[in-house]
Amino acid sequence: MKKPAPKFTTQPEPESLTPEAAREEHERLAAEICKHDAAYYREDAPLISDADYDTLRRRYEAIEAAFPELANTQTISKRVGAAPSEKFAKVQHAVPMLSLGNIFDIGEVEEFVARVRRFLGLAADKPLAFTAEPKIDGLSCALRYEAGAFVRAATRGDGFEGEDVTVNVRTINEIPHRLHGKHIPDVLEVRGEIYMKRDEFAELNARQAAEGDKVFANPRNAAAGSLRQLDPSITAKRPLHFFAYTWGEASALPAETQKGMIEAFKSFGLPVNPLTVLCHTAEDLAAHYRSIEEQRASLPYDIDGVVYKVNDLALQARLGFVSRSPRWAVAHKFPAEQATTILRDIEIQVGRTGALTPVAKLEPVTVGGVVVSNATLHNEDEIARKDIRIGDTVIVQRAGDVIPQIVAVIEEKRPAHSRKYEFPQVCPACGSAAVREVDEKGEADAVRRCTGGLICPAQAVERLKHFASRNAMDIEGLGDKQIEFFYEKGLVRSPAEIFTLQQRDEAPGNLQRIRNFEGYGETSVRNLFAAIDARREIPLNRFIFALGIRHVGETNARRLARHFGTFDALRNAARAAAKGDEEARADIDHIEGIGDVVAEAVIEFFGEAHNEEALDALVQHVTPQAMEAVKQDSPVAGKTVVFTGALERMTREEAKAMAERLGAKVSGSVSKKTDLVVAGPGAGSKLANAEKFGVEVISEDEWFVRVGA
Ligand code: IVH
Repeated sequence: MKKPAPKFTTQPEPESLTPEAAREEHERLAAEICKHDAAYYREDAPLISDADYDTLRRRYEAIEAAFPELANTQTISKRVGAAPSEKFAKVQHAVPMLSLGNIFDIGEVEEFVARVRRFLGLAADKPLAFTAEPKIDGLSCALRYEAGAFVRAATRGDGFEGEDVTVNVRTINEIPHRLHGKHIPDVLEVRGEIYMKRDEFAELNARQAAEGDKVFANPRNAAAGSLRQLDPSITAKRPLHFFAYTWGEASALPAETQKGMIEAFKSFGLPVNPLTVLCHTAEDLAAHYRSIEEQRASLPYDIDGVVYKVNDLALQARLGFVSRSPRWAVAHKFPAEQATTILRDIEIQVGRTGALTPVAKLEPVTVGGVVVSNATLHNEDEIARKDIRIGDTVIVQRAGDVIPQIVAVIEEKRPAHSRKYEFPQVCPACGSAAVREVDEKGEADAVRRCTGGLICPAQAVERLKHFASRNAMDIEGLGDKQIEFFYEKGLVRSPAEIFTLQQRDEAPGNLQRIRNFEGYGETSVRNLFAAIDARREIPLNRFIFALGIRHVGETNARRLARHFGTFDALRNAARAAAKGDEEARADIDHIEGIGDVVAEAVIEFFGEAHNEEALDALVQHVTPQAMEAVKQDSPVAGKTVVFTGALERMTREEAKAMAERLGAKVSGSVSKKTDLVVAGPGAGSKLANAEKFGVEVISEDEWFVRVGA
């Protein structure tokens, strides 16, 4: 029998509660609502009636309305029980969720082990252990536990900011709502992979097809699609699983090794992969790789390689990261999967920077479980080198997320009517000349580019697609197809026009209302406008990335954002540099990680008159949020450091990485500009120079004291 829920009619109005009483009741209601959510969504067995559930929620919301500071203290769904409306809230990762470097050959396993040993300065006879485990082909997810209770789940997103999928993750049976066992840290962010098993994927697709719903290309897409549902009751019906394999923020660690951490996760009640083993040599790792490769087809889930990690966490910390991947781990990927098919035609795509990319149109073929009908041909030299002709039988390959490629032509199967492909010399979209730039050495660039610039519609469309895309402005409902559609209809021709779309759509006398177009209805139009509105404020790094400046990807956008802090500061510096202000140019040139080519591209972009206009229009509607400047709290941040002589506690490479991690610049020679010289025994001319220039000199031990390591 269903128990009646407590009624609140006799309770005090939320406004009359003391803050303390409000906090307590809010917390209690959150726990209660979570319990009922779980019963409803996971067990399909509600404990109370819908009406009683609604009463609980209304009381919860009323308290939150009266005490807004409670809004983020108890993470419970804003969407459960309500119609899906909003998209996911963003979550900043306290520790970035980075990716792994890849290796493909057994030979590279030895290189990886040697690289780690070299970096750590480990003698050949010193033991060094690694874990080896399958690389699960799903999507990574961070689960936050506080005092052992599950409080939040976030997707990886761009690695720095993900989406809050807490309510959806709560519906996954395998993920405990409470950790159990000993030594559970107060704060523990467990990271791992959410995946779908192959047979469950097949069943899901069969069901979807029978109901005329979307079918998924592979288990990974199905897992991702299932997790990113705005209505968690849909997620609850999808068979999702989880393996824990790493962690982010943690108030303390329950073990000192990778293997120990996995065992601790297991003891807390988290699922971990049973094929995780400890290895001591490159041969051991390679043997485990082969063993997993042999088991691959019989495993119930998709894997795409084997991950090796240094076992000792203290060594992991010393190894640190390079760019966006750890030095202490690597993914050994399985070889790409291949298939044979016929090349029917070659089409040219014009990218946002005008690059003409030939695309092979193929007789559709299944490669590793995915139907492939397009493959990249890279550029015209590639077509010539492989002598690829229309009508040829070709070998196609795909590996992981990489765009399918043509490996080779099977010449014996070449039909008599096959013809060589003439690469166009003009842009197929705007008719402007397409040229290959020649560098200072007189070498032609591999890429042929349209010279149409701002008049080329293909470039404009691609720039808009990039602008609205997920890692840029992230405008939900404004994907590639919609951009093409709005561009073609003349409704959106520039980034600023995205933000005036609603106003123009709703203007009196407008006969071309979006809701009347096929595929649109009132709700989808309303959602689109809401999604656009939600982006009128945007983190600065995303905004810079969205502009599509050549050579400015996400990492460089972040560097620029961190350095300048505000969009105006960046824009003013780049504009001044374009007008010949040497100091402004030097400011951009000297940003850590920004090379000459990037600096030049930035200056050129902001100096271009058309871009000026487009930006003026855009900033009328969009406010890039100021970003905190880089934390300068390390005692060597911003200093130029030189290491010289023999170092005993770390290798030279490690010393450099450590200094850079702390915000210092490492230089190979001592000059007036050097701030600090770290000298070991046997230091020679550099030490002498330091004395000559009056630069501070410290020992290696003093360095460790200074940086607090
Ligand atoms: S460890 C610092 N272990 O592969 C990165 N990742 O390219 C720590 N993945 O985004 C990741 N199985 O989604 C790790 N056993 C495993 C994995 C794994 C799959 C995914 C993960 C990550 C990507 C890295």
